[in-house]
Amino acid sequence: MSKKLGSGKLVIATHNAGKLKEIAALLAPFGLECISAGSLGLPEPDETGQTFVENALIKARAAAESSGLVALADDSGLSVATLGGRPGVYTANWAERQWFEGEPGRDWYMAMGKVEGMIRAKGPGTSREAWFTCVLALAWPDGGHAVYEGRANGTLTWPPRGTKGFGYDPIFVPDGHEVTFAELDPEAKHRISHRARAFSKLVADQFDQ
Ligand code: IMP
Repeated sequence: MSKKLGSGKLVIATHNAGKLKEIAALLAPFGLECISAGSLGLPEPDETGQTFVENALIKARAAAESSGLVALADDSGLSVATLGGRPGVYTANWAERQWFEGEPGRDWYMAMGKVEGMIRAKGPGTSREAWFTCVLALAWPDGGHAVYEGRANGTLTWPPRGTKGFGYDPIFVPDGHEVTFAELDPEAKHRISHRARAFSKLVADQFDQ
């Protein structure tokens, strides 16, 4: 069940300031007023889905129901072919670590090392094929929804290279390139990223462009 976005208010169902800024900038030309779930005091639902689509819909629906406004959520992650698509929806969890004083934190170097170790454990010549996925979900307060999926294919390299991106960017070499996502300028990454591809599908569908 899919509807069209008009102009007006749109809740961005993220508590991540960086994502909010990026999404608001992408939607700025379309006359939408973006409001963050955090600024409305909306609770963050548990991401209990088994797929990116399920998790994006959980977040978008929760925000639409509690705000009474149309909501947009995203879910993303890295999938490795030889690991059956893992870490997938657990991409962020693989970086979780208890620091020495009990403070939880994210350690991306550890997470990248875990992926590399699991590939190596499969033996020499194992496929290093991987892809990032981004799912964007729109949910309307009366129950309608729309989902857009973007994917960036590539291979994993070791050791990590580059300092420009975030998360697993330093080990991901996108197809058609020799550098990692973390070695590309942000504008160059945003032209080919999974997030950009999902956004262009949303824009094409919602704004007939
Ligand atoms: P979530 O979408 O906020 O649940 O986060 C998914 C996780 O996937 C992030 O914490 C990142 O580690 C990883 N991820 C998603 N997109 C990218 C990307 O473009 N580069 C590197 N890592 C990414």
